[in-house]
Amino acid sequence: MIIAIDGPSASGKGTLGRALAHKLGYHYLDTGALYRMVGLSVQRRGLDPTDQESAAAIAASLDPSSFQDSELRGEGVGSYASKIAALPKVRAALLKLQRDFAQKKPGTVLDGRDIGTVVCPDADFKFFVTASVEARAGRRLREHPTSDLAAITADIKARDERDSNRAVAPLKPAEDSILIDNSELTPDEALQAVLGAIELY
Ligand code: DC
Repeated sequence: MIIAIDGPSASGKGTLGRALAHKLGYHYLDTGALYRMVGLSVQRRGLDPTDQESAAAIAASLDPSSFQDSELRGEGVGSYASKIAALPKVRAALLKLQRDFAQKKPGTVLDGRDIGTVVCPDADFKFFVTASVEARAGRRLREHPTSDLAAITADIKARDERDSNRAVAPLKPAEDSILIDNSELTPDEALQAVLGAIELY
């Protein structure tokens, strides 16, 4: 059983994916974290985030266990991640790792931007989680209370634009995905909506 959850940044798909995997006893993969690891490595080495060969080499030899979640969550890292995520060779280098993970038993939940469209086009369930820019910016501000709302909003819009308009694996709902508008839902309401949709089938 493979469940794909895609959506823009700060839409709440990570919270939802983690809770869903926990509820079902499945394995969970935050694929954005992989892109963030590559972005952070590029940033730390002072490399140009458009340098495809260097970023792809980092992606190909990635050791996820050498990163801490806290260092990956910063908005600066998200911006680097979004830039290197537009490079086709970086995406190709991370594809096998994601597909191998998806096969774990008894089931998996993967969240990202292209899980239902590219990584796992045959997923059993596909959800596309959206939320208004205002709701997403508010959510980010609660995670990073010292940040500035206007700067967070600008960053979210810039990332939406880059992630949705890149040539390879852009952010878009799979045709057979179920849409969840998470603007007004609590984490538990979002979880119940997804569980309800799964039970209907
Ligand atoms: O979900 P996130 O904010 O942690 O993702 C960080 C960036 O990684 C995001 O701006 C785009 C990229 N990404 C991607 O291109 N494909 C994925 N499956 C996951 C993330």
